[in-house]
Amino acid sequence: MTFQRHTVAAALPYANGPVHIGHLAGVYVPADIYVRYLRLQGKDVLFVCGSDELGVPITLRAKKEGVTPQHIVDKYHTMIDQSFKELGISFDHYSRTSSPVHWETASGFFKTLYDKGIFIEEVSKQYYDEENQQFLADRYIQGTCPNCEYESAYGDQCENCGTSLSPSDLINPKSMLSGQPPVLKETRHWYLPMDKYENWLREYILDGHKEWKANVYGQCKSWIDQGLKPRAMTRDLDWGVPVPLENAEGKVLYVWFDAPIGYISATKEWAAMNQKDWEPYWKDENTRLIHFIGKDNIVFHCIIFPVVLKAHGSYILPDNVPANEFLNLEGDKISTSRNWAVWLHEYLEDLPGKEDVLRYVLCANAPETKDNDFTWKDFQARNNNELVAIFGNFVNRVMVLTHKYFEGKVPPAGRLYDLDHKVLTKLSEFPGQIAKSFEAFRFREALTLMMDVARMGNKYLADSEPWKLIKDDPDRVGTILNISLQIAANLNVLANPFLPKTCMKLQNMLQMEGLQWQDAGSAELLTPGHQLDKAVLLFEKIEDQLVERQVEKLRTSKIENAVMDVAELKEEIIFDDFMKMDIRIGKVVEAEKVPKSKKLLKLLVDTGLDQRTIVSGIAQHYSPEEVVGQQVTVLLNLAPRKIMGIESNGMILMAEHADGSFAFLQPDKEIYPGGEVS
Ligand code: 2FM
Ligand code: ZN
Repeated sequence: MTFQRHTVAAALPYANGPVHIGHLAGVYVPADIYVRYLRLQGKDVLFVCGSDELGVPITLRAKKEGVTPQHIVDKYHTMIDQSFKELGISFDHYSRTSSPVHWETASGFFKTLYDKGIFIEEVSKQYYDEENQQFLADRYIQGTCPNCEYESAYGDQCENCGTSLSPSDLINPKSMLSGQPPVLKETRHWYLPMDKYENWLREYILDGHKEWKANVYGQCKSWIDQGLKPRAMTRDLDWGVPVPLENAEGKVLYVWFDAPIGYISATKEWAAMNQKDWEPYWKDENTRLIHFIGKDNIVFHCIIFPVVLKAHGSYILPDNVPANEFLNLEGDKISTSRNWAVWLHEYLEDLPGKEDVLRYVLCANAPETKDNDFTWKDFQARNNNELVAIFGNFVNRVMVLTHKYFEGKVPPAGRLYDLDHKVLTKLSEFPGQIAKSFEAFRFREALTLMMDVARMGNKYLADSEPWKLIKDDPDRVGTILNISLQIAANLNVLANPFLPKTCMKLQNMLQMEGLQWQDAGSAELLTPGHQLDKAVLLFEKIEDQLVERQVEKLRTSKIENAVMDVAELKEEIIFDDFMKMDIRIGKVVEAEKVPKSKKLLKLLVDTGLDQRTIVSGIAQHYSPEEVVGQQVTVLLNLAPRKIMGIESNGMILMAEHADGSFAFLQPDKEIYPGGEVS
């Protein structure tokens, strides 16, 4: 089906921190590339986004920084908005969910669904912090994960093993506000009956959108197959859109109910500012709605939001949700709390003028089908070996030669040879191929093809060697440069979605504007006699020093963080307390991984007294092979505990390094098993 218009929405980033490269590679760079491509095609496209300013993530951050939530959202909204602009993310409107239009829209949505009798109103028991007199959102509760024993799992998810949890699953739950165990207390909420929409979702997604990316389709299928349960669309919180009903004090809309509606609110604001009608962008069947999001948002955009839209009745549904996986950094998961990230606003400051380099590298490395890794070495290599050596080099050679031999005027093309025909045929085929990749949301592939055009240009120059012919056959040189300039002009269109700032420079050099996607493929974009501007370098080499500084910055922040994490001194104990502990040297005899656990190893330890099983959380630091034969320090008289069904009799003492890795506590000479530690 050909659509008359496109509404492209990019996930609203939480205004609880700056944007980092993971967000960019997952969502904003691909979304912007796609939108720029659509615009080049002359399509009617609206690109919206905004800051997600409500809900628990904001209040948590405010608590951490000791300021008000309003202070947090104002600070980060401005920062995010500004840095997106500088990177060239071309939203038609970047809004915020604190805007009055949004509150009205989200409230109105809830009211419509309520009036239609969609919600189930139910009283249930939820965790409550007595000291702070408030109900606890899932993220405010921490406890031990029942799956992997990780002690700081959240009430909605264990960040160690990835299991999704509900607060009642946690062992020894504690309120993150007071540190005290919460109590269960009754509260009333409004639930969206997801189960009633199961069949409809099967038709809509599983039958109707088999073309969705495998990672997205797969996640939806697994959710639907597991069976859907009613989900509360309201929360007990004081930071959000109030539930628009009588007797609902202290209740707000669940942030995941209101956030996607933020796309609609942003559209309304944009329309008002531009004298347009917002409704066709959300209600006309000829509009194609596309969501760019990260993989953690799939269920909200593919399942919950469509149910909300469907229940409302007047809206179109997402036609595609090309979600990406996650980007890692230097082999490690990006972590906001550990400051293990490349922050966009810092990048823009540290590497001015290199916006397109970041866009390029993040697209080339985009986690389109699986998680991927960003390293500064790769960043440097892609800049130097690809942008400088292929793209920049080609354009520069053509420009310099044209200035040198033809005073910067496009020479006419004369007789064509086989070599020329081949190049021109290939040139005419590229736009179709690239468009096909774009349409399938395969941006990495599209980028490779675009670079193939530049590669082809370089090879053409190398094969035809115009510099050797200039004396004897200037006409032939004119033909070669004409063709090369047409390739450069084509690049100006084909590279535009990826490298908008570079293409502005290229456009100025070529003295041409207004090119559209449909023009690409042609060998007549520049007419003979057309005067070019002077050549400027599009990219510059990145020296080792620059990337070393960035790596050093990361390393320092990791260590600083670890230092900040140094645990506080524990309460004083007396000598007798210490003497109660039976600590001895042992030797690991056998070791194996605990099935279904990333962290645990099951060890058989010779303690001198016996051989006993001890489960230890060191699997991420040592393989079983590395551990066997090691001398270890063991707390022997710790009461036995069952860990993942295995009885553990004692504890191996470990020391933690600043970078979070573990080391054994070992005597500096061999001690026989059973040797006491005192
Ligand atoms: O995960 C997040 O960062 C959310 N703020 C995304 C919201 S996207 C949408 F629903 F608006
Ligand atoms: Zn876990």
